[in-house]
Amino acid sequence: MSQSEYQTPSKQDWAKPLQDYREVIFQQYGDNIGKKLCDLVTPALILDRRVLTQNIKKMTTAVADANIVLRPHTKVQKSTDLAQIQIEAGAVGVTVSTIWEAAAMFASGVHSVLVANLVVGQSKIDSLALIAKHGELIITVDNLQNIDDIANALKKHGSKVSVLIDLDVGMERCGARSSQEALRLADQVASHPNMLLIGIQAYEGHCMLEPDPDMRVSLANKAMNYAGSVLELIAANHPSAIVLSAGGTGTYNITGKHPAVTELQAGSYVFMDSFHGNLVPGFEISLTVLSTVTARHENRIILDAGRKSVGIDFAPPKIKNSELVASFCAEEHAIFDVNSKDEFAVGDTVELISGYAPTTVNLHDVIFLIEDDKVVNLWPVFPRGPQDKGFLNALQNS
Ligand SMILES: Cc1ncc(COP(=O)(O)O)c(C=O)c1O
Repeated sequence: MSQSEYQTPSKQDWAKPLQDYREVIFQQYGDNIGKKLCDLVTPALILDRRVLTQNIKKMTTAVADANIVLRPHTKVQKSTDLAQIQIEAGAVGVTVSTIWEAAAMFASGVHSVLVANLVVGQSKIDSLALIAKHGELIITVDNLQNIDDIANALKKHGSKVSVLIDLDVGMERCGARSSQEALRLADQVASHPNMLLIGIQAYEGHCMLEPDPDMRVSLANKAMNYAGSVLELIAANHPSAIVLSAGGTGTYNITGKHPAVTELQAGSYVFMDSFHGNLVPGFEISLTVLSTVTARHENRIILDAGRKSVGIDFAPPKIKNSELVASFCAEEHAIFDVNSKDEFAVGDTVELISGYAPTTVNLHDVIFLIEDDKVVNLWPVFPRGPQDKGFLNALQNS
C-alpha cells in the first residue's frame, strides 16, 4: 500500500494504515505458521500459549477476588491480538503509554483506553482529540495549561475525554505533588464541558523497585492510603470522581487488595521476565527470545541475541530451564559463562528470558505464538508511530 493511497481517506479509513501494517507482517512472516520451533530464524520472539493463558487466568481470578477491575497495561505487549484476549477474559479496557498505542487499540475494536502518560505538544494534542472520537478515551493530566490546551483541541475537533488526575505517590515522575495541587487540577478539568473528571491515577512505580517484600507491602499501602485520601478530597467537591487506578505486576497483590483502589493497571504478568519474576511468584515465563549459540570457547558461549533483541532493563537475561545469567550483552551478542558439563554446542538453540519484557517486544516485528513446540499464529507488534502522514491524514479526515 503506497502513501498516495492514503491521501483522501473516507471516514471509516482512519484505521487503515494500522490494518495495512498487519497485512505486511503476515506477508513477511506468515510462512512460519506451522513450523517447528527449531526451524525458526533466530532471534525470534516466541510466546507459549499455554503459559500465557494460565497467567491471564491467575490475574483475572486475583482481581475478581479483590472486587476491582483490571485495565492491563498493553505497552508491555504492543499487540492488539493479546489485548482482545485480555478483554474477553474480563478486562474493562486497556492502559497504554502513547496516543498512537491508543489509536491502534481503538482500531482493533477495544472500546475503552487509558493513556497513562501525559500528552503534551500541539500536534499530539490534536491527534489525541481526533483519536477520542473512536472510543472511550481516558487521559491523565498534571498541569493546568495542559488541561486547557487539551480542552481547546477537543472543542476544535468536537470530541470528549474522561480524565484522571495524575498523582505522585512517591515515584517522583509525573503527577501532582500535593493533595491541594490535585484538587486544583480537578477543579480545572471540571470547568471544561468536554472533559469528564472520573478520578485519579496513582502509579506507585517506586514500589516495584523495592526488593524487600515486607518493605514493598508497607510502601505500596502507604502510597495507596495517601491516594485514597486525595480521591476522597476530590470526590467531596466532584462526585463524578470515583476511580483510583494504580498498580503493576510487582504490587498486584498489595495495591490490588487495598480498599481505596478500584482499578489495576498491571501488564507484565502476561509475559513475565527476570525482573518481575524476582518480585512476584506464581506467574510463569511465557515470552522468550529464541536464540542460537554462535560460538563456544571453553566455558563461554555466545548467543545471537543481544540488546537489539532482548530488553536488559532492571535485570540481565537468563537462559530458560537453567541458572545461567548473561554476563554481558552487546547489540547482537549475549555472553554466558557455563559449566564444563553444560552441553551447549554451536548451532544449538536456547530460549532467553528477557531482563524486562516491555523493552523486548518493541525490538521485534512479530510475536510467534507457540503450542506444543509449533508456531500456531503470528501476532504483529505494532510500530512505534503511527506518525506517518497516511495515518495523520486519515485521522484528520475521520
Ligand atoms: C503508569 C503505569 N501503570 C502500570 C504499569 C504496569 O506495570 P507492569 O508492567 O510492571 O505490570 C506501568 C509500568 O511501567 C506504568 O508505568
